[in-house]
Amino acid sequence: MKDENVIWHQHAISKQDRSEQKNHKPCILWFTGLSGSGKSTIAGALEHALNKLNVHTYLLDGDNVRHGLCKDLSFTNQDRQENIRRVGEVAKLMIDAGLIVLSAFISPFSAERQLVRDLVGEGEFVEVFLDTSIEVCETRDPKGLYQKARAGEIKNFTGIDSDYEKPKSAEITLDTDENSISHSVELLVTYLKVNGVIS
Ligand code: ADX
Repeated sequence: MKDENVIWHQHAISKQDRSEQKNHKPCILWFTGLSGSGKSTIAGALEHALNKLNVHTYLLDGDNVRHGLCKDLSFTNQDRQENIRRVGEVAKLMIDAGLIVLSAFISPFSAERQLVRDLVGEGEFVEVFLDTSIEVCETRDPKGLYQKARAGEIKNFTGIDSDYEKPKSAEITLDTDENSISHSVELLVTYLKVNGVIS
């Protein structure tokens, strides 16, 4: 709850000052999709490509953030909402710092994704939907979690006993059943260039 005696301090250096120094437009590439859809893998490969292009990035990864900032949160709907709210606020600060932020969270609910979109400026939220079927994710099962969820050892598992609401108007949809990682990265880099995010 915000105290009415806490007043915003407008500092001298602005988001624009910081981003001009960086030579790119800050934004967040918000990867969403089922566990195993390739969010971390593609975001990581994209970050590698952007780093080579001298773009200052930061990758917020769901599993990693749950080791620190969000280690008190579970996978109930309420805790997932809080997870995304916190990450959205962190991403907003990083955008303010002038960075290109990549985030890899299941972020299963449309309302929380919209909440993050509304936190940042016009054009600063780029939703990247990894449209990978549950069958493919379950076949990949890189961490063996689908198997555990099917056996009832993990509760509230997305796609099994917890919902995933597909984005209806993501800026970018990638079919990772079909596309290779490098092709997905190429599509994303092209999007950033065409939209003047990077040069
Ligand atoms: S989110 O729903 O709150 O956005 P987040 O991306 O942070 O999820 O975490 C998902 C990761 O946690 C998955 O990639 C998986 O490795 C792990 N995980 C553990 N338990 C669950 C669960 N019940 N549902 C989904 N993912 C889980």
